[in-house]
Amino acid sequence: MFRTIITEDYDLVSSEAFKVMKEVVKKGNAVLGLATGSSPIGLYKKMIADHNANGTSYKNIITFNLDEYIGLDKDHDQSYWTFMHENLFNGIDIPEENVHLPAGDVEDEEAECVRYEAELAKHTVDLQVLGIGSDGHIGFNEPGAPFDSVTHIMELTEQTRRDNARFFDDDIDNVPKYSITMGLASIMRAKQIIVIATGANKADAVYGMLKGPKTTDCPASVLQDHPDVIVILDRAAASKL
Ligand code: GLP
Repeated sequence: MFRTIITEDYDLVSSEAFKVMKEVVKKGNAVLGLATGSSPIGLYKKMIADHNANGTSYKNIITFNLDEYIGLDKDHDQSYWTFMHENLFNGIDIPEENVHLPAGDVEDEEAECVRYEAELAKHTVDLQVLGIGSDGHIGFNEPGAPFDSVTHIMELTEQTRRDNARFFDDDIDNVPKYSITMGLASIMRAKQIIVIATGANKADAVYGMLKGPKTTDCPASVLQDHPDVIVILDRAAASKL
């Protein structure tokens, strides 16, 4: 079931997301599912500010990230490991051993998928943060990813690689071709989900998620079956609703 919040700008979108996050982290020992991309950066800034101002502690919080590029070692400046440390983990008091991301620089990626899914399955994610790709992907579950998928290897679409080229010197050839991502079924196990989307280039994907047919052509449409999804949008992302 969706609850949709439409606000004026990105800062208000981030504030709405933070309100939901704060309710969960104040319990002290929550399990968070986290996303990369530009969409959650404002939320992460507010988490760091709240930690600094109010002492909200993450010592007993556990995190699982959605995905990682295959072929980038974790210290690469565009790895999602680096992104998460620069944009969140280095600013809060979470112990490194509580942080989980798939490793993109292993020899056996299939084994890494099995390892990650098994680790994730030991926990129940209290709150999963999601952005959405302009092609409707969540995590790196591109169109065609099965709704019953668990952590798996995904070939990135041309569209996604074009969208993400801005982080790789604007050169699509520098963008990795494959990723390891939590599957759609892994994501759906979270108790609560927030989706953050802003900008007109997300309007079609947002429409597909909320109003379109439930189809693997729009992976985010799987969320129509989840009992508790809060979708936080600016007017541009909501413009096709
Ligand atoms: C990326 C990530 C997704 C993210 C999406 C949107 O490729 N793998 O998890 O939600 O694309 O990114 P952005 O928020 O920058 O628009």
